[in-house]
Amino acid sequence: MQVSYFKRYRMQIDLQEFGSFDVPELPMGFALHAWSESLIEAHAHAKFLSFQNEIDCNVFPCLGDADGCERLMNEISSRGGFVPEATWLMTYTDPTTARAQSIGTVQGIREQKDVGSIQNIGIVDQFRGNGLGTAIVRQCLNGFQEVGVRFVTLEVTANNSRAHRLYERLGFKILKVVFKSAEVPSVL
Ligand SMILES: CC(C)(COP(=O)(O)OP(=O)(O)OC[C@H]1O[C@@H](n2cnc3c(N)ncnc32)[C@H](O)[C@@H]1OP(=O)(O)O)[C@@H](O)C(=O)NCCC(=O)NCCS
Repeated sequence: MQVSYFKRYRMQIDLQEFGSFDVPELPMGFALHAWSESLIEAHAHAKFLSFQNEIDCNVFPCLGDADGCERLMNEISSRGGFVPEATWLMTYTDPTTARAQSIGTVQGIREQKDVGSIQNIGIVDQFRGNGLGTAIVRQCLNGFQEVGVRFVTLEVTANNSRAHRLYERLGFKILKVVFKSAEVPSVL
């Protein structure tokens, strides 16, 4: 193993500059679900499927592991600052089989009285590019507004241009550049 340093952007949005965020009508079969304890496994599953083989699995190895995602969901949802209103699950129900699957997740944490942070937003690969990531983040930001949080921050790996573009489109701005160290397998 060797230590690598990943360049990341800390980004922030000032919700006072915006009214509430319109959440567009989702394509047929997709639905957003507010937080409930009973959805921990569904969130963990969506997180695992969304992050597998993505760059952030190198930065946070637990994201690349199903058990790691479940531990992380348990840890996030039991934190003092956990914000259920900013935590959303997205599902897709196949019209032919009527089977529902978890395909997206986002969680919110209150770091200080008026500062919140977004954790681990993910949409499963095959469903990307349909506005679902935008919709779930907008829903999350409305949840932060509902509980009186003014500033919402997040960190995104600089190479993750898709996520970075999404946040910029929504109004997030880069506050600073940070480096996160992580152990990655050595290349022989
Ligand atoms: C980042 C992530 C959540 C984006 O999810 P998504 O559902 O693809 O997001 P959107 O569909 O809203 O936006 C993605 C693109 O689709 C486009 N798009 C939005 N609505 C669309 C629609 N109705 N039809 C077609 N394209 C659309 C957007 O313009 C955007 O284009 P761009 O990337 O060229 O800017 C997803 O790529 C992901 O889960 N990545 C892996 C996990 C990860 O890295 N998470 C971020 C951690 S910080």
